[in-house]
Amino acid sequence: MKRILVTGGAGFIGANFINNILNKRDDVEIVNLDKLTYAGNLENLKPSEDKKNYHFVNGDITNSELINYLFQKYKIEYVINFAAESHVDRSILGSQIFYHTNVIGTNVLLEASRRFDVKKFLQVSTDEVYGSLGPTGLFREDTPLSPNSPYSSSKAAADMMVNAFYHTYGMPVVTTRCSNNYGPLQFPEKLIPLMTLNVLSGKKLPVYGDGLNVRDWIYVIDHNEAVELVFENGREGEVYNIGASQEMTNIEIVKLILNALGKTEDLIEYVKDRPGHDRRYAIDSSKIQNELGWKPKFKFEEAIQKTITWYLENKNWWERILSGEYQKYYNNLYGNR
Ligand code: NAD
Ligand code: TYD
Repeated sequence: MKRILVTGGAGFIGANFINNILNKRDDVEIVNLDKLTYAGNLENLKPSEDKKNYHFVNGDITNSELINYLFQKYKIEYVINFAAESHVDRSILGSQIFYHTNVIGTNVLLEASRRFDVKKFLQVSTDEVYGSLGPTGLFREDTPLSPNSPYSSSKAAADMMVNAFYHTYGMPVVTTRCSNNYGPLQFPEKLIPLMTLNVLSGKKLPVYGDGLNVRDWIYVIDHNEAVELVFENGREGEVYNIGASQEMTNIEIVKLILNALGKTEDLIEYVKDRPGHDRRYAIDSSKIQNELGWKPKFKFEEAIQKTITWYLENKNWWERILSGEYQKYYNNLYGNR
């Protein structure tokens, strides 16, 4: 039995990760530590919540006393750090919580991991640490870090710290840098769920700038299978890029969503651009493909339809987010906080 502290497991990617791994493996015990910020939703974990090898703890990764206590109580051997403030627009409105959670939080986890001699520390990072590309070229693992937003700079700082713990203390760390994810359970502030729900509610679709910024999209299950593979077989001290080579402009995505939902393009509204808006992200994932034999399984054209259908079929899930009801689910399960 591998005892793993998974942080941020009530968010989009972490919850998909936990549900997926617990569905297929019984050789792991998961302690999910999540602060339940606006982005944390315990309803995401319904498939896992009754499993014996799953435990939820409501807490903050920056709380070192709590982290030390959890390492002892659950005899933690591994850490997978998904917890973060993750939305670029929010980081532009206020950066402090981004540096606090993403930098200090990672430091607290690394210090505890060192103290308790963890067998592996996996840092879930992002391609945004590399900055912005022109019309050609791809991010490789040796592309210099050049983050442009408070969000991406906080993630880059954490990546450098993880690297420092490897070189200085010989900690068994590994880092993944993935491109933009989409799929079920994504909080409706990110492009794909936001546009989908706006169409469903008859609202305008706010496209930043000229709509020609490019993102390299990956289905969340493909990302998580790659994380699991790196967790099991990734070499210590290494970084692995994860991406599915599915580049799309924002306007192409918005039109695709409108089309899938049978609505016309007059809902599109071009709005003021995001400050410092990165133009293009695109990933070279040949390292993880060649070294670990990973390959994305989902094609964008099919998985985006699957995702839109999920939002159509799970109206209750997103209505509870829009109304704020989802934040009461903790009390239903565990009593008043
Ligand atoms: P998310 O915002 O949906 O979820 C983040 C989770 O972390 C939430 O459940 C939140 O409650 C929790 N959290 C926030 N601060 C915390 C704290 N101080 N202590 C404990 N828990 C805390 O984010 P996501 O999209 O699931 O992203 C997960 C990770 O993957 C992040 O590290 C992000 O940088 C990285 N990533 C995301 C993408 C993407 O496209 N979404 C792509 C590459 C990498
Ligand atoms: P987002 O989902 O916020 O991811 P990230 O900024 O981390 O890549 O945004 C994806 C792209 O969509 C990005 O180029 C900004 C753009 N965008 C809009 O045009 N309108 C919106 O309302 C949002 C949220 C994003």
